[in-house]
Amino acid sequence: MIIKKPIGIGLMGLGVVGSGVARVLAEKGDTLGHQVGCPLSLKRVLVRDVSKKRSIEVSSSLLTTQAREILDDPEIAIVIEVMGGERPALDLIKEAIKRGKHVVTANKEVIAKHGPSLFALARKHRVELLYEASVGAGIPLIASLRQGLLANEISSIYAIINGTTNYILTQMANHGMDFSLALHQAQKLGYAEADPTADVEGIDAAYKLAILATLAFHKEILPSDVHHEGITRITARDFRYAQELGYAIKLLAIAKREIDSLQVRVHPALVPQDLLLAKVEGVFNAVQVEGDLIGRLLLYGQGAGSLPTTSAVIADAIDLAYRIHRNIPNPPPSLLAEGWSIKPISQIQTRYYLRMAVTDRPGVLAQIAKTLGDHLISIASVIQKEVDEDDQTAEIVIMTHQANEAAMQEALREAARLPVVHEVGNFIRVEG
Ligand code: NAP
Ligand code: HSE
Repeated sequence: MIIKKPIGIGLMGLGVVGSGVARVLAEKGDTLGHQVGCPLSLKRVLVRDVSKKRSIEVSSSLLTTQAREILDDPEIAIVIEVMGGERPALDLIKEAIKRGKHVVTANKEVIAKHGPSLFALARKHRVELLYEASVGAGIPLIASLRQGLLANEISSIYAIINGTTNYILTQMANHGMDFSLALHQAQKLGYAEADPTADVEGIDAAYKLAILATLAFHKEILPSDVHHEGITRITARDFRYAQELGYAIKLLAIAKREIDSLQVRVHPALVPQDLLLAKVEGVFNAVQVEGDLIGRLLLYGQGAGSLPTTSAVIADAIDLAYRIHRNIPNPPPSLLAEGWSIKPISQIQTRYYLRMAVTDRPGVLAQIAKTLGDHLISIASVIQKEVDEDDQTAEIVIMTHQANEAAMQEALREAARLPVVHEVGNFIRVEG
């Protein structure tokens, strides 16, 4: 009988994702080892607190608070980083690479901010850094862009790529749930980041869009290139009006190629209810890619949570183990192009939904229409929604035709100064 030497795995992090990884390695280890051709062995697990109560049982002999016990172990060939955050994760990934270990990570912040330099470091040390779980959890997005769609010239990506915010927006829209309760539920379900500000302010989606756009357009796109806004200013009234007008409200991540520039932006948007993206609910994510050969493609699935994310992490680990076992060389690096500029948000053109509280008397609409008209913004429809007779105020909802963003921002500032405008309640871009 030939005894094959196991491939050692070091796990950094045993939280929502790490626990799923440890569980699947324990429960499906034999099947996975069979697929690879040799056994996989979980050798060490890095945590902050070894005495913490865990959702799964992991032998205490595997737990450590010392990263060097993974980094210094010559039998560990693959390091799985699922700690999250920029530091110390970035330093540990670099250290693992320098010691000749392959790395799998779910860390979008590290990949979005430092991807190209880490991939260069990995090439230098003849190892691989895989990151399928960093965007869309278990949906094979990275593999699709890196390989499956390579023959295409991609013109746009319209995506819902944050499970926490999509869950919150769905609970608010369908059940009238309060924002904080919906966020609390998303945290309990393991969808949110350790600091959920990253989710609700669109930062997590901006990291993910930077990763997808870099792959789609073969240009290094940094998180700082991505304009981002979150969902905290969306109110129950916006959901009600949007529904009446035939729209859903989604946190959209948009990357669009123009003649010599790229648009990369994350913000809430009104999406027509009959579009597939409008029907993506709860923790589900969807990424709509438009390519010259494939046409329109929609990738859809659970975008957060322990097991969907584990699915992608384990897939990357198996891929590496298979190649290590057979001595298959690493694939060549992707080449990044020069010469694209990022279009500032102030220069985009889109349609807008505006909600304002105004004085309820004749001539008010004319003043607002004039302010918008002065900035070349044309009104598509206007509806007067709620009237407070005691207060003599009304709420109006205006839908515009395509307008320039800078002009819209200036018009809103001017409108807010009109004595008849009590409040500009919200403005939301309309897409699709
Ligand atoms: P988590 O539940 O907060 O778990 C983090 C784990 O890392 C914990 O076990 C923690 O140890 C350990 N850790 C953190 N800092 C450490 C340090 N300095 N030294 C040692 N151990 C440390 O996070 P998660 O939700 O699993 O997410 C992990 C990563 O996956 C993040 O990059 C996240 O963005 C990404 N991701 C998450 C999801 C998801 O649905 N949750 C989906 C896709 C990608 P203790 O347990 O001892 O505190
Ligand atoms: N916090 C992230 C989300 C986890 O809600 O989408 C998955 O990347």
